[in-house]
Amino acid sequence: MKKILLVGNGGREHALCEALFQSPQEKEIYNFATAINPGIKKLAKEIIVGNIMDLVELKRIAQKIQPDFAIIGPDDPIGIGSTDALAEIGVPSFAPTKACAQLEGSKSFTRNLLKKYNIDASPAFKVFENVQQTSLRKKFFDDFRGQIVVKADGLLGGKGVLVAGDHFTDFEEAEDFAVKSIQKFGRVVLEEKLLGEEFSLISLVDGETVLDTPAIQDHKRAFEGDTGPNTGGMGCISDERHSLPFLTSQDIKQAHHITVQTMKAIASELGEKFVGVMYGGFIVTARGIKLIEYNARFGDPEALNILPILKTDFIDICEKAIQGKLSEIGELEFSPYATVVKYLCPNGYPTNPVKNGEIFDRRKTNVCSPVSKVFFASVAEENGKLLLKGSRAIGVVGMGKTLEEANNACESEIKKFSGPLFYRKDIGTQSLIQKRTEHMKEIRG
Ligand code: AMP
Ligand code: GLY
Repeated sequence: MKKILLVGNGGREHALCEALFQSPQEKEIYNFATAINPGIKKLAKEIIVGNIMDLVELKRIAQKIQPDFAIIGPDDPIGIGSTDALAEIGVPSFAPTKACAQLEGSKSFTRNLLKKYNIDASPAFKVFENVQQTSLRKKFFDDFRGQIVVKADGLLGGKGVLVAGDHFTDFEEAEDFAVKSIQKFGRVVLEEKLLGEEFSLISLVDGETVLDTPAIQDHKRAFEGDTGPNTGGMGCISDERHSLPFLTSQDIKQAHHITVQTMKAIASELGEKFVGVMYGGFIVTARGIKLIEYNARFGDPEALNILPILKTDFIDICEKAIQGKLSEIGELEFSPYATVVKYLCPNGYPTNPVKNGEIFDRRKTNVCSPVSKVFFASVAEENGKLLLKGSRAIGVVGMGKTLEEANNACESEIKKFSGPLFYRKDIGTQSLIQKRTEHMKEIRG
């Protein structure tokens, strides 16, 4: 009997829990959570509600459960060193150590690492540590005619990156944020704004071997037509080739190569192997594939596209990664499906979401049709009612032989839910995909 401790309780963690649950191995899943996820509740042996950022508490729980391994979903508990804390009591994790997680937590760490190890994937960039160097930052801003991105050097819950045109127009606004970042984190990164189409390539790694999952495109803006404020991600698509209609196999090979090189660079730089998820945010530009950023965890919603079509035993993947034996798996196996994921969100999200509104779930059973899946995120079950808790609420996955079929499957599942909710209907539609493809043609020239 395998015992697994899963940390976190969002849509991503519900999908992780389901992937563990689907393993043919005998198992018990324990969940350390901020709140009870109604989906995880059906699968886990026990849910322990508490502060997942409290490492003493985490260790106490793990001591009691004695899991074979832990898997940590969100960036924050990974970033503060949950893996290191668990290692102290002999529990291994499918998640990187605090040092390795700098790959996500510190933008300057990653840019400097790529530079030092000659990995050609960064835009022009400069790291500043001195508040006084306004004139040097002004020069960088002017050199790129204001087309720059300002990156805080630490985790700010998705609010750490300011992009010219989207978040600021003049130097003063950019400088104000740069100074605040230096004051808070000791550093800020300024970089050239890249033009192109973005995609995510999430790879599972053990420090030696890199196994890719399907390439995915996320849709960050809250409203249709890519308008409105940025969110954690309103939905994601991936086609039946496990790629995107506007990507070539060469694009994916290049991204894979960047991840292999970066994984090796981390081992050389830190003397530690990166174990867990290397989630590359890449962009196809006129100058080839560039790296926007790495995350050290599964994406949310990206995990909702990937895990339901994963055929390889997920418990085996986690254990092999921990043992440094991922190469024994060969390649990950996925069902030959395109996937479309859309998040149902409370009205007003993300700026002023309604809270505690009731969601009506008209699925007859909790078993979806074979081509759809539903994952719960920011919702709670109270007195038999399903209530909105303010953030992305329900992730709906459609699968199909084409993106069109996947989108239809997703839409018909969405129809079973009602309440004060909205979602981006345009994600996964032919017209939006066409728009992306045209843009890509323009970029490639
Ligand atoms: P976040 O996920 O909050 O870190 O935001 C990152 C987003 O900022 C990316 O998805 C990109 O859209 C954008 N971004 C970051 N760096 C660059 C860059 N150098 N050029 C263009 N866009 C960027
Ligand atoms: N979907 C974007 C993220 O997980 O960071």
